[in-house]
Amino acid sequence: MNILLLNGPNLNLLGEREPEIYGKTTLAELERMVEARALELGHAVRAFQSNHEGALIDKLHELRRWASGVIFNAGAFTHYSYALRDAIASTKLRVVEVHLSDIARREPWRRVSVIEEVCAHRIVGKGTAGYIEALEWLVR
Ligand code: DQA
Repeated sequence: MNILLLNGPNLNLLGEREPEIYGKTTLAELERMVEARALELGHAVRAFQSNHEGALIDKLHELRRWASGVIFNAGAFTHYSYALRDAIASTKLRVVEVHLSDIARREPWRRVSVIEEVCAHRIVGKGTAGYIEALEWLVR
């Protein structure tokens, strides 16, 4: 199975960005972890991160036929990007929404996810382990 690992804005700074909330693992380490687990299970991963909404939409479009599943942390776009919501719906990709932190227990505006209803599954508050769980859920 082909899996797209997609990370949105500010996740390039993982490891140094608010480590008390998001942990000390860097994005490169996280991507390697997911790739290694996928390889173990016999699956392929392509990883992409962008701080730009349009670049994330373009990647979903570009890989819509290649990918059978997407692990997606949309960062703050989660809370207001109807364009990303429409991109997921338009491509019919099977997406797992992932958040490192438990967005339900933070500021009220983080409790809203405009992509939730077009995602197949959701994992929050499990740190980097949530990405592995998302992979295992997709390939199950
Ligand atoms: C996040 C939660 C979002 O609210 C925040 O804007 C992020 C990261 C998380 O992984 O917990 O950038 O998606």
